[in-house]
Amino acid sequence: MGWENRTDCHVLVIGSGGAGIRAAVEAEKYGTVSIISKTITGKGGCTVMAEGGYNAVLSDADAVSVHFEDTVKGGAYLNDAALVEALVSEAPARIRDLFNWGAVFDLTADNTIAQRPFGGQRFARTCYAGDHTGHEMVMTLLERLRGSNVEIHDETTVLELVKDGDRVAGAVTVDRNGELGLVTADAVILATGGAGQLYDVTTNSTAGTGDGYALGYRAGAKLIDMEQVQFHPTGAVFPADSRGRLITEAVRGEGGLLRNIHGERFMEKYDPARMELSTRDIVARALATEILEGRGTSSGGIYLDVTHLPAEQIEKRLPVMLSQFLQFGIDIRCEPMQVAPTAHHFMGGLCITAQAETTVPRLFAAGEVTGGVHGANRLGGNALADTQVFGRRAGISAGKCEPSAKSVDAGILSAVEEKISRLYEGDTAVSSVQKRLKSLMWNNVGIYRNELDLKVAEREVRKLQGERLRITSPQEIAGACITENMLCTASLVISGALLRRESRGAHTRTDIKQKWEASSSPFGHTWFVGEKAGIDIVEANL
Ligand code: FUM
Repeated sequence: MGWENRTDCHVLVIGSGGAGIRAAVEAEKYGTVSIISKTITGKGGCTVMAEGGYNAVLSDADAVSVHFEDTVKGGAYLNDAALVEALVSEAPARIRDLFNWGAVFDLTADNTIAQRPFGGQRFARTCYAGDHTGHEMVMTLLERLRGSNVEIHDETTVLELVKDGDRVAGAVTVDRNGELGLVTADAVILATGGAGQLYDVTTNSTAGTGDGYALGYRAGAKLIDMEQVQFHPTGAVFPADSRGRLITEAVRGEGGLLRNIHGERFMEKYDPARMELSTRDIVARALATEILEGRGTSSGGIYLDVTHLPAEQIEKRLPVMLSQFLQFGIDIRCEPMQVAPTAHHFMGGLCITAQAETTVPRLFAAGEVTGGVHGANRLGGNALADTQVFGRRAGISAGKCEPSAKSVDAGILSAVEEKISRLYEGDTAVSSVQKRLKSLMWNNVGIYRNELDLKVAEREVRKLQGERLRITSPQEIAGACITENMLCTASLVISGALLRRESRGAHTRTDIKQKWEASSSPFGHTWFVGEKAGIDIVEANL
C-alpha cells in the first residue's frame, strides 16, 4: 500500500456539521481549505437534525449577563467562564450572519427573529425555524460553502491525525472504497460532533461515534469532563425503530405538559417552580424515576401532551413533530405522545481556549467535540449557538497559522498500515462489538450510575478492546476504526464517571450521598491526557 494519494491544504476541517462548515467558511479567507466528512456534507451529523432552536440575546429586555448566568447555573458551575462569555456575547452576531445569508427563521409581527422559551432560561431567547432549525441553518451554510473554494471529501473517514514533532500536520484517511490517503495541513480543526452512538438509545445520527475525542486523545490532546453525557428527556418510545428519536424541547417550550400514567404533572415533585421547563438533567431524571418506579406507560414512556394547544400553533410551530407522529398513526393535536430519555449530547470533550485552540499545537476544535462550554449540563438551544460561535473562532485561529513545510512522522503511517493488516487477521465482527458496547453503556453508564456498575463497564470495555476486530475488505476499514474510536471514547466516559465522586449536572452517582451543592463542590474538571487521568480539586471551594 502506497502513500501516493497525498494532498495538501492550509486548513483541514474534519467533520461537516454546523461547526465544521462554519469553520471552513471562515478559514477559506486565509488559504486553501479541505473538509473531510465521513458522511455527506450537510446530510450527516447532528446539526442538520437539530429541531428546537438557537439561543441568543436579541431583545433589550434580555441581557448577555443573564444568558451567562443561566448557562453556568444550568451547567452546575462546571463551565469554563471564558468559553461561556464567548458563547453568550457572540451568539447574537452569529445568528445575524445566518439571517443575512438567507436563513428563514420564524419572525415576529415586527419582522424580527422570533424567540420561544426553553428549559433553564429566564428569558424566551431560543430563536427557531419551526422545529427544523438545524436543517435551516445547515442549508444556509451549505449555500455559503457552494460559493467558496473549499474542497469537500465526502464519505471519507479520518483514521489518525499525523504529527510533525509536537504539532499536528494532517491526517490519514480512508475513502468509501477503502483507498488510503494522506492530507497534510498547516492546521487541523476537529468538528466531529459527539458520541451518542455509544448508547443503545440516542437522538444522534449514525455519525455520532466519538471519533474526534479518540483522534484528539491519541494525538496527545487534553480532554475534560467526559463523564458528562446529556440524556434528552424526551425521545420517541415507539415504534421500535424510532426509539430515541428527538422529540424537541420546543414541544414543552410551546406549552406541552408531561404526565405519568396516573395523569399527574409529576414535575411538581422535582422542580415546582420551573415544571416542564426545568433544566434537562432534572427533567430527564424525573422521567427516568417515574418510569423506574412504575408510573410510566405500558410502552415504557411518559405522556407529553399538546392537545390543549390550538391546532394552528402545533401546525405552524411544530410541523415536523406533527408529521412524524402522523406517520406513526398518532395525531398529536388529539392524543398525547409518549416519550422517554435518550442519549443526546456530550458536554465533555477536547479542552479548548476561547480561540478554539486545543492543548496540541495547530490542532483546533469546535462544537460538541469540545468540553467546558456547557459544564455539567447543556441548556437546550446553546449547542447550535456553540457551533457557530466556536466554528467561526476555530476557522479564524486555524486560518491564521503560518504556512510551513511539513515532515510527517512516518511512524504513524506505518502504524496505520500495521493496524489494517491486523484487522484482516481478526475474528470478531464489528457489529457484534458495537452491539455489546451500546447495551453495556445504556445499562451501566446511563442516567443513574454507581461504582459497581461502572467497574463492570470498565472491565467489559477493556475486554471488548482486547477482541480482535475482523474485516474482509478495504471498504470495512473505516467501520473497524470507528468502532475502536467508540471503545476509546467509552473508556474515557467510564473513567470520568468513576473519578467524579459526586452527582453534578447530568452525572448522577446513586452510591454517593453528598451534602455539598454543585456551586461549592471541591471538584473541578475531570481530565485525560495520554495515560494520565485525574480530577481537579478546586481549593477555593473547599
Ligand atoms: O429539543 C431540542 O430541540 C434540542 C435542542 C438542543 O439540544 O439544543
